[in-house]
Order: sequence, then structure tokens, then C-alpha cells
Amino acid sequence: MKDIWSSMKNTVNRRSFVKNGLTAASIGFLTRSPSIQAQDESGGHITRGDAALLRFAAAAEIIETDFWVQYNELAGIPDDEVPGGSGNPAYTAALAMLDADMAQYVHDNTDDEFTHQNFLNAYLASKGAETVSLEPFRTLQGSTATGSSGKLRITNLMQLTLDTSWWTRYRSADNPDLDPTFTFPQAIPTLATGKHTAIPRTDDDTSDPNFLQAIANTAGFHFPTIEQGGNSLYPSMAQRASSVEVLRILISIGPTETMHFQTWADKAGNAPPLTAVDPVTKVSVTFPDLNSPPFGGPEFQTNLIMPEPCVFLNRKLPRCSIIRPTETKGIAMGVVNFLTAMGLFIGQSPAFFALLHDLAQDADQARRER
Ligand SMILES: [Fe+2]
Ligand SMILES: [Fe+2]
Repeated sequence: MKDIWSSMKNTVNRRSFVKNGLTAASIGFLTRSPSIQAQDESGGHITRGDAALLRFAAAAEIIETDFWVQYNELAGIPDDEVPGGSGNPAYTAALAMLDADMAQYVHDNTDDEFTHQNFLNAYLASKGAETVSLEPFRTLQGSTATGSSGKLRITNLMQLTLDTSWWTRYRSADNPDLDPTFTFPQAIPTLATGKHTAIPRTDDDTSDPNFLQAIANTAGFHFPTIEQGGNSLYPSMAQRASSVEVLRILISIGPTETMHFQTWADKAGNAPPLTAVDPVTKVSVTFPDLNSPPFGGPEFQTNLIMPEPCVFLNRKLPRCSIIRPTETKGIAMGVVNFLTAMGLFIGQSPAFFALLHDLAQDADQARRER
């Protein structure tokens, strides 16, 4: 965990960034409003800090929406709520090995992310605050397999490196907030190294059933890996919200990420055990039987999906079943680093990273004002 939420090594130096004139607003991807503070419904203001917290959340939601759309095009349900794509029957069937309802869940998670980004930007606009768009960065070529719309993407699902230590973190009595150096074991160690595709890149990727199942299993572990991040992001940011209404937004969206995480954590445990080698990259991946030695037991058993109580705030207090981590300091940059290390932005431009870092730094500088 220590490298996930606390690492700042990829941080762009803010001063040189500003000096070069590359603030998020001046890059031109934010809509500058006439006033920074605007009236809320009760006659108060939303502070610069509150706007920065919501703006970072909006950016994170746009990123989530972009990759969930890719999943929905191939293995979800294209409809009015989530348009685009026509489904890839082979990939959809492989994902259904984890649960017969996967297509519905993929669709509904995608729909949720659309509403999160739309609401957050609309709320910011309603307060006269800057909104955020990542459309100028829709530059990446995605899957060309059957079912894909073929449109350009913001995120890359084809070179993922997944940290699946959340699996054991939520089964452990240790809390990364109290012990940032504690190492939680990986559920799928081979996903934590090398680059793995979570979607069929081309129709060639659907020809070998074993490799196709490895792709679907990778997606099955990517889903909770992402959603547990949102699960921690919202309560971590909420601690520095100034207005009760902004607090309400953060603590109302956050638990829907938790609902996603809980569902996906359950489904990931159904991934069929296998070993496969990517015919293109020659990278190997193994999905072990998590219920049998050397796995199994309280750390890995697949039906232990309820959070185990852990230490919280102070080791002298009794253990408590909670979301963790929820340390607020540096959370936004921690999330940017986490998603970057995941490979989700491979192929993106320096301007993309500059904007994301700027948004994260602004969110991390937000302070609660009474
Ligand atoms: Fe979301
Ligand atoms: Fe989400």
C-alpha cells in the first residue's frame, strides 16, 4: 500500500508547471467562470477548496466513464442509457463465467459513472465554478474487436498492471492508514507485474478460449481494483469539504462506489483458475484457485467478502469494520499515481498528465473552512 496512496514521486512540480503557464485553466480544458465563489441554495458559498474537490472527483468520474463504456460496448448492454458498441459474444460469454448477470452489472456500473460525472460538472456550473472536460484527450485507439464502436478513447484497457492487494487488505486486521509500510499480499500476483489486456484487442484475441478467459478474468479483477479506489477517494476527500452540501455530495456518491466494489469483489472470486500466455506479448498470467493451498484460508477464501474489522484511528481503540484507507492527506495525487501505475493512461500526452496533476494538487490543497 505504501506506494499507492502516499507516493508523490510522479508529481509534476507545481511551481514549474505554473511558471510554464500550464495551469489547468490556461491549457484551456476548464471552463473559466466569472466568479470563483458562488451562492449555494442556502445562500452560502462554495469555496475554492470545495470546487477543487468536486472538480477532481469529476475528472476521476470522466476517466471511470471512459473505460466503463469500453467494457459496456464489448460485454455489457448497449441501450439508451449507455449507447455505443454492439457486444462481443465470445468475450461476453467468458465474462459470464464469473456470473450470469455480468452484462447487466457492467451496464449499470457504466450508467452510474455517467451520472456521477454529469452531476458533478452540472453542480459546479450551477455554482459558477469551473467544470472539467477531458475530451481533448480522447486520442487513444481502443479495441478493434467485434462489438467495439471503434471511437477514440481517453483510457487504455489493453496494458494493465493490477494491484490486487485490496483482496487481502479487506481481510486483514491491519490498516494502511496506521501502518503505511505494511505489505498486503496480492490475490493475483502475476497481474501485479507485466502488462495485461482486459478486453479483446482484436478478434484474434477471441480465438483461443483459454486466453479469452484470462482476458475476462483480468477484467473481473480490474473492476473491483478500480472501484475500491473510489471507495477510499470519496470519504478521504469528504473530510476537507467546507459546505454541508458538498459534504453531502461526496458522502452520497462515495458509497455507490462501495456498492460497485462489493459486487465486483464477490464476482472476481468466481474467476476460473487458469494459466495463459498472451500470444502477442508472450506475457503469462495465472489465476490461482484462491480456495486451495497455497492460497485459501482467511486471507484468500473467496466468500469472505465482508470487510474484516481492523484497527482504526488508534490501536488502543477496539477494531472496527470500515473502509480503508481514508487518510485525507495527498489522496487525490495518490489516486492519480495509482491509476497511472495501473497503465490506464499509457499513450496519453504530457498535457493530460499535467492537467490531472494540477487538478489533484488543487484538490489536495483544499482545506475545510468553518
Ligand atoms: Fe463513479
Ligand atoms: Fe466507480
